[in-house]
Amino acid sequence: MKKNLKLRAVVSPTPAIIAAAYDENGKADACTLAFYAPTSHKPPCLTIAINATAKRKTLKSILHSGAFTIGYPSVEQIAEADWIGMASGYEHDKIAEVGWSVTKAEMIDAPVINELKLTIECKVVKTVTIGSHTQITGEVVNIQADDSILDERGRYSLEKLKPIIYDEENWRYLAVGDGAARAFNSGLVFKKEG
Ligand SMILES: Cc1cc2nc3c(=O)[nH]c(=O)nc-3n(C[C@H](O)[C@H](O)[C@H](O)COP(=O)(O)O)c2cc1C
Repeated sequence: MKKNLKLRAVVSPTPAIIAAAYDENGKADACTLAFYAPTSHKPPCLTIAINATAKRKTLKSILHSGAFTIGYPSVEQIAEADWIGMASGYEHDKIAEVGWSVTKAEMIDAPVINELKLTIECKVVKTVTIGSHTQITGEVVNIQADDSILDERGRYSLEKLKPIIYDEENWRYLAVGDGAARAFNSGLVFKKEG
């Protein structure tokens, strides 16, 4: 038997990521997001959604600068990511409060949080507001990875990155588990010959 659950947008698992952008004074803003989706291969694009009715400072900064980064905090950085998702840049210098620092991105005018080991640089290509949130689609123009999360073939490794999974249903964070199987391969057991 199946049951209908409470309506909500975040049906976990989804990663908790940190979006960052410069405000009109060149100050770096950041907020934690669970509303995040990859949305195009060519060109590579991803879409984030930020609450427009709640006046998020990071949303204002992204719309002003036309650029943003998203970075992946690790399970060792849960407290920092949680605080960046609780306090607002209107009242707090959150990045400094958690002891982090920023460097300007290589390809866009947006801050890269130095302590995050995987960062995607995005140029805003489209925004649309549906309901409470403004969806911002960014074209991926650069991906920066720390050496420490790369494997011997130069690919980033989720085991090394240790991203955070956000569980909206239970208001908690989880770690990514073990590798389970090979993708685009496991399904071959159902392929009929000829
Ligand atoms: C785990 C987590 C996920 C969140 N996801 C979103 C989200 O997807 N969209 C959003 O607008 N706010 C989200 N928030 C809330 C913002 O991060 C929060 O309101 C933040 O204080 C906004 O900061 P700002 O005003 O400096 O931009 C999330 C917070 C947490 C802790």
